[in-house]
Amino acid sequence: MCGIVGYVGDREANNILLSGLKRLEYRGYDSSGIATLNNRGEVSLARKKGKVSELEDELSKNKNSNKIGIGHTRWATHGEPSEHNAHPHRSGDVYLVHNGIIENYKELKEELEGHKFISQTDTEVLAALIDSLYTNDIILKDAVAQALKLVTGTYGIAVVSKREPDTIVVARSGSPLIIGLGKGETFIASDATALIGHTDQAIYLNDGEMAVCTAGAVDLMTLSAQPVSTKVETIANDIQKIQKNGYDHFLIKEIMEQPTSLRSTLSGRLILGENRVQLGGLNLSLAELKDIENIVIVGCGTAYYAGLLASYYIEKIVGNITVDVVVASEFRYRSFYLPKNTVALIVSQSGETADTLACMREIKSRGMKTLGIINAVGSTIAREVDGGVYVHAGPEISVASTKAFTSQASVMIMFGIQVAQAKGVSLEKTSEYVKELNILPKEIETVLKNHRNEIEELSKKYSKYDHALFLGRDTSFPVALEGALKLKEISYIHAEAYATGELKHGPIALIDNRFFEIMIMNDDWLIDKSSSGLSEVNARGGHVIVLTNSSKKFECETTVRIKTKNKLLAPIVLNVLQQLFAYYVSLAKGNEVDQPRNLAKSVTVE
Ligand code: AGP
Repeated sequence: MCGIVGYVGDREANNILLSGLKRLEYRGYDSSGIATLNNRGEVSLARKKGKVSELEDELSKNKNSNKIGIGHTRWATHGEPSEHNAHPHRSGDVYLVHNGIIENYKELKEELEGHKFISQTDTEVLAALIDSLYTNDIILKDAVAQALKLVTGTYGIAVVSKREPDTIVVARSGSPLIIGLGKGETFIASDATALIGHTDQAIYLNDGEMAVCTAGAVDLMTLSAQPVSTKVETIANDIQKIQKNGYDHFLIKEIMEQPTSLRSTLSGRLILGENRVQLGGLNLSLAELKDIENIVIVGCGTAYYAGLLASYYIEKIVGNITVDVVVASEFRYRSFYLPKNTVALIVSQSGETADTLACMREIKSRGMKTLGIINAVGSTIAREVDGGVYVHAGPEISVASTKAFTSQASVMIMFGIQVAQAKGVSLEKTSEYVKELNILPKEIETVLKNHRNEIEELSKKYSKYDHALFLGRDTSFPVALEGALKLKEISYIHAEAYATGELKHGPIALIDNRFFEIMIMNDDWLIDKSSSGLSEVNARGGHVIVLTNSSKKFECETTVRIKTKNKLLAPIVLNVLQQLFAYYVSLAKGNEVDQPRNLAKSVTVE
């Protein structure tokens, strides 16, 4: 949720920490801070409420050439966004940055009676606990290890001390932490984007591991000081991929690059000559694929909606198979029963979402196969599932997920085709979907080119509303849910989505002049049913925008009509219109498009 960074080497730490924090700002932007030390152990601490740019201004006033430091950008969980709740938190000689939640912080705080706390945070309690154990006869690493044994909850931490000015101690349990190896320098970060341009050699810490980092050296161990074998991995190092490349915002860049990102998702997986799909990395034999009777798809937010959309297609493609789609934060605490021959698809862009990770571990502990549908390479879920597929959509920086949705849904549809192939479903049936997937990038490209300006104009009119209803039937229902999520999370317009058939069972009571409605009218076998829904809304004075690939005339306020060769997968193409709409409405409202209020890109806490 938060982003932490660290550096020890022979270069000025402030610049490296600041650029790292800017890269990680999508993980939280409520406040930020940096602590650096000179070789006499004197600490320069700077903390600011708000964006990293505020901290940068502050640091520009008190320059120093310190070569070691830690930094943090915050998504507030305990204590409101403010300077006194900003990290690093200090206690005695100890300075600490933390990503995660110390669940038993209240109990620990009571035991630390006499300590004067200046913030409402759980993190300051951990700093005070470490400090209370950091007596003169032990070193920082041991004080940190002892303290962490008393903690329940999740953490990725980096700790420095005035008494050991050449050392950073890091540890992880539940929150991601990666160590970048440079020549004579060591980098610490919550995810790989902060390391790009510095090194492509990295160590991913696992839960229960800690490390002592000095300039160019890393000593890895468990909390009980047992040595840990160091696995150095090569990470992507293409700075181009994490830049706006001339776009005003990452969001519009990521919407517009979907034809390219989807082509890399599909590349090498559609065997066009044979109208077949071949996904590598599933670690499932043909017999195991054939025996699958139940699929449970687990995710949060947009990942959940991508799963819901895919579930409709998998049922259509495979035939007699059950596909359950569950919200991870609920499923992890439900007393669920998974029949034999169940495979779980674990869907996550970041691969770090705490609820999804916990579900994966729970399902795995029940002996079910877990397959990751993941975008972030090297992420925790990707490294812990039994098999899986990287969606290869490239780094997604904007908090609102767009290209990942399109790629996740496409990968799960391909999974459905591969299962159908193993079960002997007719090639005639599966090849329809293979052909549709193959043309999808081009069809999305055409819609982006032909309708971007039209949607921009449209958004100006509807950005004045405070309420919106999204409606869709069959495969257009999950797309309506995704459209409503996109609009609400970046425009702050209250947006809800319903299955069109559900409208008359209550939601239709909402319709009045405060609302506009978006109806996705896919040119399919249910279009007449959908048209009845439109008449019902019109009868209540609705302000309806119809998004459609049909040539039919619709009674509504606005029709956005696309031409697309995609029939079965048309809802995925229509969804791109919703992405553009949410972007331009948010822009029209002057919102922070890439970093909407109260949100963060990767939710690593419960
Ligand atoms: C979507 O735009 C949001 N950022 C959010 O709902 C997101 O989809 C959810 O937090 C899941 O994230 P994940 O795919 O990284 O697990």
